[in-house]
Amino acid sequence: MHGVNLDQLGRRDPAHYGSMSFEELELKIKAQGTELGLEVRFFHTNHEGEFVERLHRLEGLADGLILNPGAWTHYSYAIRDALELTGLPAVEVHLSDIERREPWRRQSVIRELCLAHVSGRGVEGYREALQRLRDALQAQ
Ligand code: DQA
Repeated sequence: MHGVNLDQLGRRDPAHYGSMSFEELELKIKAQGTELGLEVRFFHTNHEGEFVERLHRLEGLADGLILNPGAWTHYSYAIRDALELTGLPAVEVHLSDIERREPWRRQSVIRELCLAHVSGRGVEGYREALQRLRDALQAQ
């Protein structure tokens, strides 16, 4: 699940996000999932309420979640609460290294609900996230 401004990849600061477009990012993640034997579905919105409502409606549609909520990561308790409601295993991913940027990016309000977090590894971070999620699902 991609959050706010992720669809603008390719236009965002390449020093943090690289030059890949959003469409390319999703294609790569899909291929990573296929390699790992996982079926990947995507969701993106720039509207916080839509993100929350998608989380509300996940029952029966997904075994687990990978989230990059963009800037919402740092302050959206609404998304945090909705994520908790899903009860699903989740991994937090960020393309950039949020620990080494502005201090306000170091805060993640969803982290404690996630079984793992990956940041600063670009698209490869999604492979690690998929692996972590698959491992957690296999251990269930
Ligand atoms: C991001 C990091 C966030 O701080 C930022 O607001 C984003 C993208 C990342 O993938 O590195 O929009 O989540």
